[in-house]
Amino acid sequence: MTQTVTLRRPDDWHLHLRDGAMLRAVLPETTRHFARAIIMPNLVPPVVTGADAAAYRDRITAAVPEGAAFEPLMTLYLTEATDADDVARAHADGLIHAVKLYPAGATTNSASGVRDFDIVRPVLERMAEIGLPLCVHGEVTDSDIDIFDREAVFIDRVLDPLRRDTPGLKVVMEHITTSNGVDYAKSAENIGATITTHHLVINRNHILVGGIKPHYYCLPVAKREEHRRALRAAATSGDATFFLGTDSAPHTDANKETACGCAGCFTATNTMQILAQVFDEDGALDRLEAFTSLNGPAFYGLPLNEDRITLTKGNAATWPDKIDTEDGPVTVFDPGRPIHWHVSD
Ligand code: NCD
Ligand code: ZN
Repeated sequence: MTQTVTLRRPDDWHLHLRDGAMLRAVLPETTRHFARAIIMPNLVPPVVTGADAAAYRDRITAAVPEGAAFEPLMTLYLTEATDADDVARAHADGLIHAVKLYPAGATTNSASGVRDFDIVRPVLERMAEIGLPLCVHGEVTDSDIDIFDREAVFIDRVLDPLRRDTPGLKVVMEHITTSNGVDYAKSAENIGATITTHHLVINRNHILVGGIKPHYYCLPVAKREEHRRALRAAATSGDATFFLGTDSAPHTDANKETACGCAGCFTATNTMQILAQVFDEDGALDRLEAFTSLNGPAFYGLPLNEDRITLTKGNAATWPDKIDTEDGPVTVFDPGRPIHWHVSD
């Protein structure tokens, strides 16, 4: 018997589209299935002002393939020079939907991130006043903190104090990778948490056992199996705190398969197929729509998508191993086992 599931068209609440040739190559991979996405601002140089965000939005819109309907939800990159009035204006104009906090040095293109949180306090206070969410890359960068502990330490040392100092600030804990992240998100008010596709599938063994696998390396790095299980339980629970943010982050193979490879997994192409299988395996297909299509808009105060997509279970699904770009190929995330779900519109 064929099994099918029909969902409101999903959104991606954390996506890297890059710019130029890379943008043109990867955008169709997202617009094929997704209606909207929160667009990460970590370009070089980063998207820091309302004017930068408007120009980037126009470049994205110009690259949307013919016949696709896609709304980029823009964000600003918080720096120590961010002007609260510019942020408030871009929000009032409906241009931006969040501000992104990268601790300086935490991940790809984060050199302009925040070092001294006291300096950005006025911006955070204004955001709390106007209801504009702060999306947080939750890792400390101190060299004495083990990379596998950086998320848990960030929650205690940075996130919890920051939220206490700025009452009412809406925060998205981005791409959580630990049970600590799950527990904190559940316990607190005004918090949403995104979970990626790949963190539901891989643990740190997948990166390191039997040879190093650069295409499984991303930040925050995948943790122990017990953490992956906690993420699966959270994503499939239907709890409105948790929603999909793929963190699909394209890098060319040349930049991944090298002595110092970039962080990022590219999952735009096969996220929905993989998620259908994950939710099916966990007996939670009836909660897939909450994770991909309902909880995110509710958190961001946006309407639900009216359009629908249908997923069907059948033979092993296929997709290209790589997406060709003018800069070189980008490898699509390999879930490491056959996926039996297909997306048919
Ligand atoms: C992201 C990128 O490549 O821009 N990489 C990643 O591993 N997730 C940056 C980020 O979101 O941390
Ligand atoms: Zn990201």
